[in-house]
Amino acid sequence: MLRIVPLTDERAAYAIDLAAAEADTPDIPFRSFETYRARLRHEWPGSKTEQYLAVDDGTPVGHLELFLPQLDNLANVIVELFVHPDHRRRGAGRALLTFATRRTTELGRRHLIGEAVAADAFAKAAGAIPALVEIRSRLDVTGPLPDDSPAAAGYRLVRWTDEAPAELLDDIGYLDSRLNDDAPTGDLAVESEKVDAARVRAAEETLRLRRRTTFHTGAVHEDSGRLVAWTMIAGENDTGWHAWQNITIVDPDHRGHGLGLTIKNHNLRYARTARPGLRAIDTSNAEENEHMIRINRAMGFRPVDRWTQWQLTV
Ligand SMILES: CC(C)(COP(=O)(O)OP(=O)(O)OC[C@H]1O[C@@H](n2cnc3c(N)ncnc32)[C@H](O)[C@@H]1OP(=O)(O)O)[C@@H](O)C(=O)NCCC(=O)NCCS
Repeated sequence: MLRIVPLTDERAAYAIDLAAAEADTPDIPFRSFETYRARLRHEWPGSKTEQYLAVDDGTPVGHLELFLPQLDNLANVIVELFVHPDHRRRGAGRALLTFATRRTTELGRRHLIGEAVAADAFAKAAGAIPALVEIRSRLDVTGPLPDDSPAAAGYRLVRWTDEAPAELLDDIGYLDSRLNDDAPTGDLAVESEKVDAARVRAAEETLRLRRRTTFHTGAVHEDSGRLVAWTMIAGENDTGWHAWQNITIVDPDHRGHGLGLTIKNHNLRYARTARPGLRAIDTSNAEENEHMIRINRAMGFRPVDRWTQWQLTV
């Protein structure tokens, strides 16, 4: 009989998620157990998570994570759901999703949101809608270093690893808070996050505890002294050959000066120099985000696969 229990066996959850990742996305390195455990133990600032295992006659077969934002997006539950490849098509996925739906109602929330690369049939069978399509692209970073032309006149570049200079924290919070408004979010029921300087610092500390290194480059507007553009590459410390190009944002008042491409190229040089074993960088963009995709193509990113953000409203 299948039972759903709160997660206590971290190794069982790791074995399920690792096997699912190896089956579904073999080109993305999966973290070590130490890094996996660090992620379970150090919650993301401004959120809570609940973890469950599906156990079938004593065998752990599925893992469910419910990520619950606490400061904004209070109607949402971000769902991660993995069934071990050897135990699929026997109802474990459906049972975990039914459990997640009930829990969402209990918590007084409305939308379950989950991202998947190959779960169209499952999500459709569950009645979820495809709310946003994203393309993952990969950049081979073993070739020549990218262009290092300076930023447009009136802007100066800044860079840092892991911990931002204190005087930039407010501006980073402001730019980070804009992301859900500025980047396309399709039909997703997401609202802008409320990020302030303290939350930026707390996120840096959590990333450190989760054994990640982050490389950042930004552009400061010289007249106002404000950080108006920011980009970040992040990688797990034990998979040094791979990293993610995460956030890139240019404040609307400062667009059209080529700052997006300039900071991305500089940050790439920075990350490659600091992490000499780096061979590949992945990035994910909404299919409709033409500006970002054009910049990424110019940098040499090539599409790999399509991910869908599914949304189920209770
Ligand atoms: C998606 C996933 C969770 C499904 O788990 P599962 O235990 O195999 O799902 P179930 O057996 O409960 O399937 C429920 C229904 O979904 C549909 N379905 C699931 N997998 C399917 C597949 N590969 N092909 C066609 N239909 C499928 C079927 O309608 C199925 O009902 P049926 O077996 O009675 O026909 C699992 O494949 C997985 O872990 N994938 C990788 C991670 C992921 O994509 N998670 C979802 C993101 S939130």
